[in-house]
Amino acid sequence: MTDSNQPSWSTVWDDSPMGLFALKPGSETACAAMSPAIARRKLIQTLKNAYSGELGAIQAYKGHRKSVSDPAEKEMIHRIEIEEIIHRERVGEILYLLGEGPAIHQEKAMGMVGKVLGFLCSFSGWFAPMYGAGLLESRNIREYEEAAEYALAAGHIEFLDDLLIMAEVEWEHEKFFREKCRTHFLYRWFPKWPVPPAKETIRKPFLWVNYPEGPLRHHLNTEAFAL
Ligand SMILES: [Fe+2]
Ligand SMILES: [Fe+2]
Repeated sequence: MTDSNQPSWSTVWDDSPMGLFALKPGSETACAAMSPAIARRKLIQTLKNAYSGELGAIQAYKGHRKSVSDPAEKEMIHRIEIEEIIHRERVGEILYLLGEGPAIHQEKAMGMVGKVLGFLCSFSGWFAPMYGAGLLESRNIREYEEAAEYALAAGHIEFLDDLLIMAEVEWEHEKFFREKCRTHFLYRWFPKWPVPPAKETIRKPFLWVNYPEGPLRHHLNTEAFAL
């Protein structure tokens, strides 16, 4: 029997006319009633945020990886770092396909934030970077879920699979850091972020959509990240 709360690492994850596909009445996605034009704008903004957020994460994990001494933790953080690189590449491709690009000011800001956080990892001790990473990863899950909802409402079902895979990968990241935090005595004194629901729930609102398989399905697998 599979425990859905155990990280598997095997998935690790113009104004479109409304007529591109039929939105199912009573759909579970929050954006089902959103106009395609608004959904497209929100999709692009969410992807720009995610693209720069991934840059910050990559820089921060670089420093985090160097700051830990346990080889298993170092390897896992390196793996997560590689997955964030793949996310950034794919989000960049999707933005390009939408005729958009990254926001330069966000790139500069998040790049700097990531470098500072990565640098501080060497001085802040073991717990703070693990806690901060878990908190941010929990938000990343929702960011890609929202992007998938906007993509659906905008009629871009060709991006759905990749966006959902990225949400699933972020789910694995959050679980890894949360479980690490729980082993530390300081965790009991810190505010707890909401534990994400089971990974299977990420795709649940989209089960009725016949979306094509995305390119990430062939890139995000255990073998691809052998170090
Ligand atoms: Fe990511
Ligand atoms: Fe992540």
